[in-house]
Amino acid sequence: MGLTTIILAAGQGKRMHSDLPKVLQPLAGRPLLSHVLETARALHAEDLAVVYGHGGDRVQAACGADDLRWALQAEQMGTGHAVQQAAPGIPDDNQALVLYGDVPLLRVATLRRLVEETGADEVSVLTVQLADPTGYGRIIRVDGRVVASVEEKDATEAQRAVTEINTGVMIAPGARLKSWLNALRNDNAQGEYYLTDVIAMAVRDGVAVNGIKTDDETEVMGINDKQQLAQAERALQARLVQQLMAEGVGFADPARVDIRGKLHCGKDVFIDINAIFEGEVSLGDGTRIESNNLIRDSRLGPGTVVHPNCHIEGASSGSNCEIGPFARLRPGATLANNVKVGNFVEVKKSTIANGSKVNHLTYIGDTEIGTGVNVGAGTITCNYDGANKHRTTIGDDVFIGSGVNLVAPVSIGKGATIGAGSTITKPVPEGQLTLARSKQVTIPGWKKPVKKGK
Ligand code: UD1
Ligand code: CA
Repeated sequence: MGLTTIILAAGQGKRMHSDLPKVLQPLAGRPLLSHVLETARALHAEDLAVVYGHGGDRVQAACGADDLRWALQAEQMGTGHAVQQAAPGIPDDNQALVLYGDVPLLRVATLRRLVEETGADEVSVLTVQLADPTGYGRIIRVDGRVVASVEEKDATEAQRAVTEINTGVMIAPGARLKSWLNALRNDNAQGEYYLTDVIAMAVRDGVAVNGIKTDDETEVMGINDKQQLAQAERALQARLVQQLMAEGVGFADPARVDIRGKLHCGKDVFIDINAIFEGEVSLGDGTRIESNNLIRDSRLGPGTVVHPNCHIEGASSGSNCEIGPFARLRPGATLANNVKVGNFVEVKKSTIANGSKVNHLTYIGDTEIGTGVNVGAGTITCNYDGANKHRTTIGDDVFIGSGVNLVAPVSIGKGATIGAGSTITKPVPEGQLTLARSKQVTIPGWKKPVKKGK
């Protein structure tokens, strides 16, 4: 028996009050829909369909992929109508699993259980018990058996008191689902074709309907507004941090860290408060991330310490580097081992070899720095002439005094020393002191200017 998975993603999401289609609202830095797709893909359905409609171009642009079958729902007339758009493509003897694009935290294990526990001619609906069921469809049972799911707006007072709710996740035999969808009516409070009405139809046809419960409230959260989006974000972050702690990562406060992507950690990593990780980040053994750091798409080697308030993107470090406080590593910043990049230093598209230090108030761009180099405070590689970028090369064991401008293209020979305040425009020879600045003079008899009109 094959599996078709259908994800509903056509709704506008009025309650978001946003120009962005609901399923593209970001959760942990990527669209809600991409979370549902990731979960769905883990089930390896032979047929994976997405029903799209509102903001369709943007949804396809953000989540398009070769393994998806797109079904257009031009006008949003309800979840049942949405499934109907994808229905013709469902092979009759497939099981059809329906997921909602706005229920992003479902666990793969829960869906597997749903698929496994559902017989070929059975329907299952995933339910959960909620202290506050407001807004969700209520599961109606008679003698313990599921007989219907009723939307809140259509529910009687007694039905509204039911706390077992419909998560929206449902699985049904393909051929039967198609015939039930064709029989749906929209004579309800919202004038919509509800997918959830299929449950009562199945019962009427003598098909067993299983109400399969999960006890994890957070995994079935439906995201309709910004408050629920923020709640889901916190729930997901807690889940991600719990996983990392289980693997041995230390956090000063598990509630004050954000992971928007994949964070890979070695042993004995410690992360202080307000660290944000985006994209693909890996932290080697013994790495320490101090407070208030944003780290995106970067690899930091073992023993590296990132002091507070750094912005690190597309960068890498070898072992035992020290970064910050207040450093900015931009894409292509490549630090070897035991490198120090300190206070108010910006590094872009540059390599810094073992043991070199750039400690204060400096810009290093399009530069190659050798081993054992010391770059003095306030040094600038002038890499841009207004039209093109040029490279700077600094040999091993060079000492650069404070306040030096290195006008690229330029190269500094091994072991050279450059005097403070120099503006270097020509190649610098190895092993000698080079200075490029005017001589200090004192003007005899010079008078301080005075304010006009006095
Ligand atoms: C739905 C369920 C409700 C359940 C809740 C769980 C129905 C009728 N109600 O309510 O029982 O408790 O989810 O979160 O199914 N969509 C379309 N096309 C449409 C309408 C909706 O693709 O015409 C998509 C939306 O983009 C969304 C999903 O279906 O991803 C759910 O729609 P939504 O309007 O949020 O349904 P709820 O009112 O939350
Ligand atoms: Ca919803």
